[in-house]
Amino acid sequence: MLPQKTAIITGAGKGIGLAVARALAKEGVRLGLIARSAADLERLRSELKEQFGTDAAIATADVSNRTEAEAAVAQLAGQLGTIDILINNAGTATFGTLADMDPEEWQRIIQVNLMGTYYVTRAALPHMLERKQGDILNVASTAGERGFATGSAYCASKFAVMGLTESLFHEVRKSNIRVTALTPSTVNTELAFKAGLPIGTEDRMMQPEDVAQLVLAALALPPRVVMKTAGILTTNPQ
Ligand SMILES: NC(=O)c1ccc[n+]([C@@H]2O[C@H](COP(=O)([O-])OP(=O)(O)OC[C@H]3O[C@@H](n4cnc5c(N)ncnc54)[C@H](OP(=O)(O)O)[C@@H]3O)[C@@H](O)[C@H]2O)c1
Repeated sequence: MLPQKTAIITGAGKGIGLAVARALAKEGVRLGLIARSAADLERLRSELKEQFGTDAAIATADVSNRTEAEAAVAQLAGQLGTIDILINNAGTATFGTLADMDPEEWQRIIQVNLMGTYYVTRAALPHMLERKQGDILNVASTAGERGFATGSAYCASKFAVMGLTESLFHEVRKSNIRVTALTPSTVNTELAFKAGLPIGTEDRMMQPEDVAQLVLAALALPPRVVMKTAGILTTNPQ
């Protein structure tokens, strides 16, 4: 259990973020949830209230917009009182060859996945530095560890998230703030489905709940140690 803890989760309306929100709420964490869709967040808030009796705070924001990202973090920090845990999960994917992909779409991927992570982290960090404690978990991907054809925008964004994460790890380690990069392979979510990723057959695909378990495992470590990079793959690839 993680009672008395507070967490902000970006991209909490669907997929991995939704599964992480459910898992943390079950552990007694008070949540601040960010996504662009108010309907998704309202639905989740009602579900968490009904199931766990918790009142999650919600903020609709596009994390790729600095003003919106900063306002959302400020609002949620005000409502929660503290930020113990930040899960930078909001992300998007479009695949296409570098030659064919529209430059504006290429830039949008970078803006959401990298700049969104940067804006939200920059806004949340002072709350952690002040108390000399905190956990920041950035949802990167195996696409942040190796490239593949049609992945230039997505892989560039996730490699960059890995670089941001590694550098921040060294900057705030001495302040007792743990920074972790999560690197799951393909997960059964709308993002993977829309992007046409091979997610495998029902019994073999990785589920959002599996990534949520990885988050819990990282948070369950004694405060004196940090899970620096945490990857999971399916045991039975096709
Ligand atoms: N699925 C995979 O195979 C896989 C594998 C490895 C890593 N990942 C990473 O895991 C993270 C979550 O992906 P997912 O598969 O769970 O995707 P998903 O099912 O599409 O959910 C993405 C969530 O992020 C939110 N979001 C997207 N763009 C946003 C923005 N600009 N500002 C605020 N919120 C935004 C979405 O809500 P709104 O649209 O309402 O904003 C939604 O709640 C991403 O960073 C992704 O790159 C995914």
